[in-house]
Amino acid sequence: MAVTREHWGSKLGFIMAAAGSAVGLGNIWKFPYITGENGGAAFLILYLGLVFTIGISVLAAEMVIGRASQSDAITSFKKLETPGWSIIGFMGILAAFVILSFYGVIAGWTISYTLKMATGAFAGANGGEIENTFISFISDPVSPLIYAGIFMLLTMLVVLAGIKGGIERAGKILMPLLFIILIALAIRGMTLPGAEAGIRFYLEPDFSKIDGKTVMAALGQAFFSLSLGMGVMITYGSYLNRTENLGKSSWYVAFLDTTVAILAGLAILPAVFAVGLNPAQGPALTFITLPAVFEAMPGGTFFGTLFFLLLTIAALTSSISLLEPVVAYFNQKGFSRTKVTLISGVVAFLLGIPSSLSQGVWGDFKFAGKGFLDLMDFVSSSILLPVGGLLVSLYVGWVMGAKAQNEMTAGEGKSLVLFTWIFILRFIAPLAIAAILVNGLL
Ligand code: PFF
Repeated sequence: MAVTREHWGSKLGFIMAAAGSAVGLGNIWKFPYITGENGGAAFLILYLGLVFTIGISVLAAEMVIGRASQSDAITSFKKLETPGWSIIGFMGILAAFVILSFYGVIAGWTISYTLKMATGAFAGANGGEIENTFISFISDPVSPLIYAGIFMLLTMLVVLAGIKGGIERAGKILMPLLFIILIALAIRGMTLPGAEAGIRFYLEPDFSKIDGKTVMAALGQAFFSLSLGMGVMITYGSYLNRTENLGKSSWYVAFLDTTVAILAGLAILPAVFAVGLNPAQGPALTFITLPAVFEAMPGGTFFGTLFFLLLTIAALTSSISLLEPVVAYFNQKGFSRTKVTLISGVVAFLLGIPSSLSQGVWGDFKFAGKGFLDLMDFVSSSILLPVGGLLVSLYVGWVMGAKAQNEMTAGEGKSLVLFTWIFILRFIAPLAIAAILVNGLL
């Protein structure tokens, strides 16, 4: 039986959904703390450079594969008569599971923080008390898992609703709201007394901070943030009609994603200094700093609740994109959408348990110096995603060739942009990614 393929309802719908996948915890939770750990402004510049050369090219390349094949991330390579390259899709699905597992844990924290904010849990608390609240919450063996479970259920529900009713609608309404509240937060963060040191840290580069590890972190962050290297954008591109210019679409998505990350940095890093915290404290940064900022602003309870609610929703529009490629693949194989969604969601949740416990009772188990959650993040973002991106570049640059160029512009003809894109995919992206991986791992 032939399955009719659902398509996006509009061009804006696709861009919002792709941006919804891109914008998430990676921008608001991860970007500020990684920037904090890697020296601030110099890291920011490096990150921007990577996003607007390699990142955006791989983004367009994935959309091209998806639309040309109108198939999920694995079947697409068979449709394009190059079945050997399906490895890209298989690796991607593996990476998606790994990411979804720990992503659900952090998203669970945001749900809990929405409730804490709404009930005034931080009223009158100082920096140290806010920190203690956070640490005792994440180190609890049970409660974070309940919230992770709730988040995974929500993810499954949206994926079950299908692409137009679920994914597309969620993106269109909620993204703009998140944007506005981030601007308000950035303004408040930067005007707190003592914030100047943070602004300097974030905007005045010190290039001596950059080494192989920093570059690897920046590349991993670029791939993570743009949702690349794991078949997500292939899958989303496959729900597109033939009329879009994919070059433009990838610009919009990269631009929105980067703007949100920069704004999140402005909202969080200056405030870190104002509250007297250390910018290099890792994953806890957002959850400790922001409640302190909300405490210092009028209407803080209201804005704090709204912020964590929107962050949860931004995480949701990303997590559905992690689940969708798996579901799309097995759906095409003839399994029911419901069954695949339920099974994959539960598996991802179970895989998330060690990540959650690594914040408390299993905190002493280290692998190569990293706790379980950090290890999952490192393996997926810093290794699997860049390797996926490298293969996508080689595939579209060398194997698809002219076909890719036509697909990219929807027949609008050749241009300098097109030439640059192919050049990056053929030479720059594969060489740079390989060099960064080798250098970072050694
Ligand atoms: N891009 C998302 C974020 O920045 O939060 C996370 C993500 C979604 C990563 C989808 C990878 C992915 F395929």
